[in-house]
Amino acid sequence: MNQPDQIIGSSPTFLDLMDKVSRAAPLDRPLLVVGERGTGKEMIAARLHFLSQRWNQVFQKMNCAALAPTLLESELFGYEPGAFTGARTRRAGRFEAANNGSLFLDEIGTMAMEAQEKLLRVIEYGEFERVGGTETITVDVRVVGATNIDLPAAADAGQFRHDLLDRLAFDVITVPPLRERRDDIILLANHFGMAMARELEWLTFPGFSGKAHEEMLDHDWPGNIRELKNVVERAVYCQWDGEQPVCGLVFDPFDSPYRPPAALGGIKEDRPASEPAGQNAKPKLPTEPQDMKQALHHHERALLEQAMEQCRFNQRAAAKWLNLSYDQLRHGLKKHGLIGS
Ligand SMILES: Nc1ncnc2c1ncn2[C@@H]1O[C@H](COP(=O)(O)OP(=O)(O)O)[C@@H](O)[C@H]1O
Ligand SMILES: [Mg+2]
Repeated sequence: MNQPDQIIGSSPTFLDLMDKVSRAAPLDRPLLVVGERGTGKEMIAARLHFLSQRWNQVFQKMNCAALAPTLLESELFGYEPGAFTGARTRRAGRFEAANNGSLFLDEIGTMAMEAQEKLLRVIEYGEFERVGGTETITVDVRVVGATNIDLPAAADAGQFRHDLLDRLAFDVITVPPLRERRDDIILLANHFGMAMARELEWLTFPGFSGKAHEEMLDHDWPGNIRELKNVVERAVYCQWDGEQPVCGLVFDPFDSPYRPPAALGGIKEDRPASEPAGQNAKPKLPTEPQDMKQALHHHERALLEQAMEQCRFNQRAAAKWLNLSYDQLRHGLKKHGLIGS
């Protein structure tokens, strides 16, 4: 059986979280783990399993976003021969495989409505039928869901079943983003740095330079712990040896003078070579007479909204994204009524 990875953290916010996880783990109820990408939701789900009475049973993981709706259903509930083209034999699904154990459903907010209906029934009664089957299967599985979206809002918008949400959210464990527990940044960085140094067979890990420390503490970490792990591992392996403290953090590995420019208004591969691109490209211009001030005003607002969304409403990050000062960004947001004054 695979052992869970070590969960690192010592900030008060992190310890509160661990406390909540330890209290929720032994209760045989479905749970929801909510948090931004890379905050450690999957790790927490594993901990919930290993601290429960089911610890010596199966811990199954499945990402709901990776599969088309019909595939998702047969993956979760299995299928009978002839259920669809290509289904020659009977196949058990994840629920059967996870019987007596736990099933972690990642990105549960992306699940199609039909699968949600079946999921609700199996959570409530432990019963389901395989796709294309009539026999009712009974299982005993603890479901832990994870999401980085606002599920109550999704339910209000008709994209997630309210009854399933009520059932799943017996309790909700919200994992704080890394920028809300900055005390953990250096601790985690050292942990990942040491592991990488071991992998490179360095004799010791020399730690980070003072500048690297500062940069790490200043960064907002939109990709959270996954991002930190990558930044640290990249910096360590780019260093020649294990003699000098690690410096030279690269936060954006795409950063390069040769980076292909982003197309305004969407992503499109394979533009013909004759077509201009990026900064030098002329945007599509209207052929009708225009009110220039109004058009610029609209464009400015759209850029501000886009930056805020892109940076998950972190104003400092959005300012950086637009190459504005923090005050300039705040001024713009106020002007367009995007924040209260
Ligand atoms: N508290 C932690 N201590 C050590 N590593 C962590 C911690 N939280 C997350 N990680 C690591 O960060 C990465 C992302 O974690 P994961 O659980 O997959 O995040 P999520 O599911 O929220 O996107 C993984 O490599 C995981 O091992
Ligand atoms: Mg994940």
